[in-house]
Amino acid sequence: MIRMGTKLNKFIEEWTPKINHVLETAIQKDTDQQRLFESMAYSVNAGGKRLRPLLTLATLTTLNQPINDSTLKAACALELMHTYSLIHDDLPAMDNDDLRRGKPTNHKIYGAGMATLAGDGLQALAFQWIVDNELPIEVRCRLALALAKAAGPRGMAAGQADDIQFEGSRLDLAALQKLDRHKTGALISYAVTAGLIMSPVTTEQGKSLRRFAEQFGAAFQIYDDILDVVGDEKTIGKPVHQDANKNTYPNLLGLSGAYTALQKTVDNAKEALAMAEASLGVDTSLLADFCSYFVIKDEKNNGKTAR
Ligand code: IPE
Ligand code: IPE
Ligand code: MG
Ligand code: MG
Ligand code: MG
Repeated sequence: MIRMGTKLNKFIEEWTPKINHVLETAIQKDTDQQRLFESMAYSVNAGGKRLRPLLTLATLTTLNQPINDSTLKAACALELMHTYSLIHDDLPAMDNDDLRRGKPTNHKIYGAGMATLAGDGLQALAFQWIVDNELPIEVRCRLALALAKAAGPRGMAAGQADDIQFEGSRLDLAALQKLDRHKTGALISYAVTAGLIMSPVTTEQGKSLRRFAEQFGAAFQIYDDILDVVGDEKTIGKPVHQDANKNTYPNLLGLSGAYTALQKTVDNAKEALAMAEASLGVDTSLLADFCSYFVIKDEKNNGKTAR
């Protein structure tokens, strides 16, 4: 369970079991190879905060849109895409990690070949779930285009390419921000964009919520970098102190500099929500609660949730 604001806690309690139910039941019938199914299901059902589908559903709720089987399935598709990115991220040829979501990584159990294929299968299945539902056809097309852009060579794949290409060399802040915007920000931004696409709002009306998502996504990777330094394996379910040669905020700015950057980015995210509240006339407190995931801990502030 994520440490979150009260309103969001209730929302998580309501929706996480429903997200998990879709993920646990729907993959099998779309898969025709038992070992491949097991490998895909192993990582998808290993746990995980389900942050991205929750963000899509929270965006819909913020915009007073009902959640039905089709919007839920489309929201869950992003968790498939995210899980694929994690399986490939952990491969020996990439970050070479042994633990994910508190369990041995996919390639440790199924081997690098099957883990690669599990990722391939999940990526394709994400698009299938976005298209194979009862949403209006143009909504499905817009979701597919947005997800392709977010995950592809102008999005997550580009960020992952920067991450491995520049491992061992020091990028400046602007280049690090770009790397993070791609590798992590793109899928998180898509989570909110998906909620906007499934709601009757114009691109112009969605501007402030997209700005929130962009800043929240940036904060998410800064915090992930910080957790590599101050987190513990048991709580975060993955190894710590793996990022010595990586381009991260603590490596570039020091831990205290990373916390300052995190607070500033969270402030920007909240500012964007205030603007969304004013322009759309909606209550954004559910989305604001996602910011309490970040625990800002430094000399002056001993373990407080982000302001
Ligand atoms: C981890 O994402 C990978 C990053 C983009 C930093 P999460 O922290 O959302 O991982 P899960 O889904 O909870 O396992
Ligand atoms: C990975 O970033 C982001 C992805 C696209 C999967 P990291 O390599 O920092 O993620 P963790 O720390 O392994 O979860
Ligand atoms: Mg990585
Ligand atoms: Mg990694
Ligand atoms: Mg990390």
